[in-house]
Amino acid sequence: MSLTVKEAIETRRSIREYVQEPIPKEKIMEILRLASLAPSAWNTQPWRFIVITDETKKRELQKAANNQKQVGNAPAVIVVTSDMEDVLGNVGQFAHPNMSPEAKERLKETLENTFSPVHVEARGQWAAGQTYIAIGFLLLAIRSFGYDSSTMLGFNPVQVRELLNLPEHVQIPAIVALGKRAETGNPHHRHPLEKIVTWIE
Ligand SMILES: Cc1cc2nc3c(=O)[nH]c(=O)nc-3n(C[C@H](O)[C@H](O)[C@H](O)COP(=O)(O)O)c2cc1C
Repeated sequence: MSLTVKEAIETRRSIREYVQEPIPKEKIMEILRLASLAPSAWNTQPWRFIVITDETKKRELQKAANNQKQVGNAPAVIVVTSDMEDVLGNVGQFAHPNMSPEAKERLKETLENTFSPVHVEARGQWAAGQTYIAIGFLLLAIRSFGYDSSTMLGFNPVQVRELLNLPEHVQIPAIVALGKRAETGNPHHRHPLEKIVTWIE
């Protein structure tokens, strides 16, 4: 099963009760491969994904996530993190192979000049902003394979970092629970286009 982008967008909704059946690992890896195709400024790709299917770890994570039931209930949970310090230390890993050595050097300098005056926390936030693009792709990739998701910011980042042994500079833009829906969820409730769109023509 594979939905079109339009179908995935229109049928995605936050789901908090899941069918109790595991998702094949290859399927999750394919979903993450699609998410990783998201664009990012300078192609920095600061997103990193921690996939949790272990029951004990899920329960611990649920406690750190305001005890939200979908964390323990979903067959898999993805802690989406972003690591800007890894980005800045490894420019060679994401500079496009088509770039000349001089262009790669210029990219490194640009990133150094841009981010060295910025505090670790603030540049971490910048990376988290890039990571939300991948999260959008992730949610649609999940849905396109007939699965459902719940995105969460309702968690204690300090506790989640501790649970997963993450260094302090690593940001956690969201936790995403995924699986097959065992409830219908809420129909979309969105602003009308008149409120959110301005045309200048
Ligand atoms: C970044 C982000 C954080 C969210 N955090 C939570 C959360 O902690 N708990 C929860 O139940 N829903 C959470 N949601 C789900 C939103 O409430 C939901 O997306 C919104 O109400 C629209 O509903 P829909 O996803 O069904 O279209 C979050 C969504 C996003 C995008």
